[in-house]
Amino acid sequence: MFNTMSLQLRFALLLTVIFFVSLPLVGAAAYYVLQKNINEDVFEQAEFFLNTMESVRHQVGKVMRPAVQKYMGTRFDARFMSTSFAARGVAERLNKKFPDYSFRHTSLNPRNPINQADSFEKDIILFFSKNRETKETKGFIMRDKAEFFYVAKPVVTESSCMQCHSLPGNAPREIISVYGPTAAFGWQPDQVVAALIVYVPTKLAKTHAFKALLTFMLLYAAVFLVILYIIDRAIVSAIIKPIKKLTEAAEELREYSANDQSPFS
Ligand code: HEC
Repeated sequence: MFNTMSLQLRFALLLTVIFFVSLPLVGAAAYYVLQKNINEDVFEQAEFFLNTMESVRHQVGKVMRPAVQKYMGTRFDARFMSTSFAARGVAERLNKKFPDYSFRHTSLNPRNPINQADSFEKDIILFFSKNRETKETKGFIMRDKAEFFYVAKPVVTESSCMQCHSLPGNAPREIISVYGPTAAFGWQPDQVVAALIVYVPTKLAKTHAFKALLTFMLLYAAVFLVILYIIDRAIVSAIIKPIKKLTEAAEELREYSANDQSPFS
């Protein structure tokens, strides 16, 4: 006799096997795509942060400082005349809301020791000096045993920088008395002297990618369950029910012929 249960069971088993075999493959592919997209998002946000910092520098250097100098002459006050002071202050305020993003305004021979480049940052500054057409570089870096995304831009000198960065004798007195006569002097115009860098821990993107993967896998399992249910119902109504009817009819026929009372006579 036709085994109705085994057909349903076989389809259910087949789908379950397909589910478990496809699960790691679909999971790995989904994780790859998610991680790639999220990495791109993080890079984009880091770039946005970096461009904001660069804009702060330009706004202070090209608009605020010349305007203030009209009133103050040769006197100097970093609070409204230093681009690096302004950018650092804005970054510190932003850091309170976005603690994962760190900003560095690094130089090989800094005026403010806080801006001293480490060995990785030195390499970035030297890279920009050798590749003058490169306006931005990005990648991954291990720092203090943690992995970070970084995005970096070069800082190039102009003739307007020379009043404070060429000869100590030409610089405002206040600069010498606060920072001394050696740091960040001796620069020429059109020279790469520093780099602006934003770091973001990759852990952040990995956590986002993992959460998105979990939601995706739950949806995948739910879709499989729905398909399993639909196929099961389809097998019952399209195959099992008609076969049952046929078997019953055949059974009746057999009984009639056994009693020698053909229903067709
Ligand atoms: C009016 C004076 C003045 C001018 C003009 C000036 N700077 Fe500076 N610069 C400073 C001072 C002061 C600091 C240190 C501020 C701080 O505490 O971060 C500084 C710091 C920097 C730093 C951070 C690294 C370090 O040495 O601490 C860079 C990079 C820099 N300047 C580049 C430039 C460039 C490029 C220009 C021209 C586009 C320029 N500066 C024009 C006064 C000036």
